[in-house]
Amino acid sequence: MEAEQFTVRFANAEDDPAIAALVVEGFLEKFRPIFGGRMDRSLRVMEKWVTLEHASGGVTSLVTEGYSSAELAGSVGVRTAPSREDILARGLWRSLTRNLGFPRAMWATTLLSFPRYSYTASEAYVERLVVSPSFQRRGIARDLLSAAENLARDAGKETVGLHVSGNNLSALRLYEAEGYREAGRQRSFLTGFFLDIREWLYLQKTL
Ligand SMILES: CC(C)(COP(=O)(O)OP(=O)(O)OC[C@H]1O[C@@H](n2cnc3c(N)ncnc32)[C@H](O)[C@@H]1OP(=O)(O)O)[C@@H](O)C(=O)NCCC(=O)NCCS
Repeated sequence: MEAEQFTVRFANAEDDPAIAALVVEGFLEKFRPIFGGRMDRSLRVMEKWVTLEHASGGVTSLVTEGYSSAELAGSVGVRTAPSREDILARGLWRSLTRNLGFPRAMWATTLLSFPRYSYTASEAYVERLVVSPSFQRRGIARDLLSAAENLARDAGKETVGLHVSGNNLSALRLYEAEGYREAGRQRSFLTGFFLDIREWLYLQKTL
């Protein structure tokens, strides 16, 4: 049997809604306690988030096409420079308050601020790696990760870093197999209690 071939390419602005849908689908357990009965709104917020990330600079997204160029099977974001925080934070806050109201927006901001991350010039940061359930276990995440590492190399980075929740065993297996090693750990009572994520691991790979 021949292995299926999937195309990895740079995302464009039209991909933002599909990337947002993949992220919400892939991280449902994280988003449900944050958005509660307003899961429909989570999609709008995430779409705005992805668009803002692209508009505020620093993050490039890669996507894998499914069986047609209109269908996305997976996606990843790669940070190679800091964002314009004023654009990102203000836009996100506006979207959260508009969609959820002030109290729930405060709550969402608190939970979404984990894991804590700060930019390092010599390192690319991989975020929101996700593959649609119907496309999983076909090597798509492995290929996206490898494309992200190539992008990091081209940007002159020495290492790639990423966060993963301590209970995400499938992602931990993937990262371990691809040569990522633990470089730090954050514990959070808050996300432990509300998201069932007690620990966030920071993994790193030298390029
Ligand atoms: C984690 C995730 C991205 C993996 O995507 P994928 O395309 O299915 O992964 P791949 O097919 O490239 O798998 C590569 C390797 O990772 C490991 N792996 C991936 N999924 C696994 C699972 N469910 N159980 C055990 N190992 C798994 C295996 O070692 C696998 O190699 P193998 O298939 O040859 O055994 C996907 O499950 C996902 O989107 N999960 C939800 C979002 C998420 O948790 N993202 C990671 C954020 S840090």
